Amino acid sequence: MADRPNVKDILAKARATQAAGSPEPAAAAAPSPAPKAAAAPAPSAAVPTGRPLTLKEKLAAAKANAAPAATASAPVETAPAAAPAAAATAAPAVKAPTAAELGRPLTLKEKLAAAKAIAGATGSAPAAAAVPAAAKPVVAARTLPPLSDMNDPKDLAEALRQTASKPAPAKAATAAKPATKKEDLNLPPRPNKNAAMAALQGTRRRFMIGAIPASAWLVLAWTTFSAALVAFSAMLGRFFFPNVLAEPPSTIKVGPSSQFEPGEVNERWKAEWGFWIVRSVFNGQDSIYALSTVCTHLGCPPNWLAGEQKFKCPCHGSGFYVSGVNFEGPAPRPLERFKLSVGDDGQIVVDKAQKYQEELGQWNDPDSFIPV
Ligand code: FES
Repeated sequence: MADRPNVKDILAKARATQAAGSPEPAAAAAPSPAPKAAAAPAPSAAVPTGRPLTLKEKLAAAKANAAPAATASAPVETAPAAAPAAAATAAPAVKAPTAAELGRPLTLKEKLAAAKAIAGATGSAPAAAAVPAAAKPVVAARTLPPLSDMNDPKDLAEALRQTASKPAPAKAATAAKPATKKEDLNLPPRPNKNAAMAALQGTRRRFMIGAIPASAWLVLAWTTFSAALVAFSAMLGRFFFPNVLAEPPSTIKVGPSSQFEPGEVNERWKAEWGFWIVRSVFNGQDSIYALSTVCTHLGCPPNWLAGEQKFKCPCHGSGFYVSGVNFEGPAPRPLERFKLSVGDDGQIVVDKAQKYQEELGQWNDPDSFIPV
């Protein structure tokens, strides 16, 4: 047991060897644990090979072997999250081809890519460039050619930097926005729609009226005047002519006297002609006469009541004998008679144009009856 070194001795010996051989790894170990592991000497080199390694030594040796791999992969893993300084260092590696190299003018895309690469390489990173920019002396801005004529990516990079250093125009526009009211814009007033429509309709009307030729207006006026004159003449002519009534003839043949029986009241012509043919004894003589069917009260047609041997008016109850003389009711006078005559053919002819009234003594007229 006395000749076998313990763990403490091995570790102390390793640290002594580390301190004497390479002082830098200790300083480099500070930023990250990876360099520390890389600086640690391999246990296989420090531990004498006359004995088997302990578990701790094996672990230390394994860590020491794994450290270089971790150190090699560290830049890859930490590259995206690295500080802008690291990015600035890596930027020159991506060199954009120039027009001379390509043998043709650069496209706009290539120009922009080259300009962005140069701008990034020359410290356009905001965090890193912010502090030194204040201390840099003010350099007068170069006069750049128009963007379409730029062939040098450096000019484009300068243009990008100048554009980035200018104040944001959007905010200025936003700040000035409230001033752009309708009144401030000094715009012309909007036209009134109703007035515009009225003016348009007036124009259309004037156009339509103007489209009709003057001769057409003259023809229209004369036509209207002529039509009015014809209508007035027709009305005037009708005024000079009497109304013509299509009345039936006033005379009618009722047949020979022999066909009427004594005491008979024939109603055959009552409805159409308005009279009865009566054969009766009047003033002691058998005679035939034609009695009107118009009541002398208010004009109703009385009815012949054979049972009572009288004419009875249905309107107000006037009663007339078979001779036609009134005897009851409001009728003021007897019924009227029509003129009778005997024709060449022996038929009795009734003429309604001639009337005979009893109260006037006309029933004694020989034309008012036909003796049988
Ligand atoms: Fe015949 Fe009045 S109309 S009684």
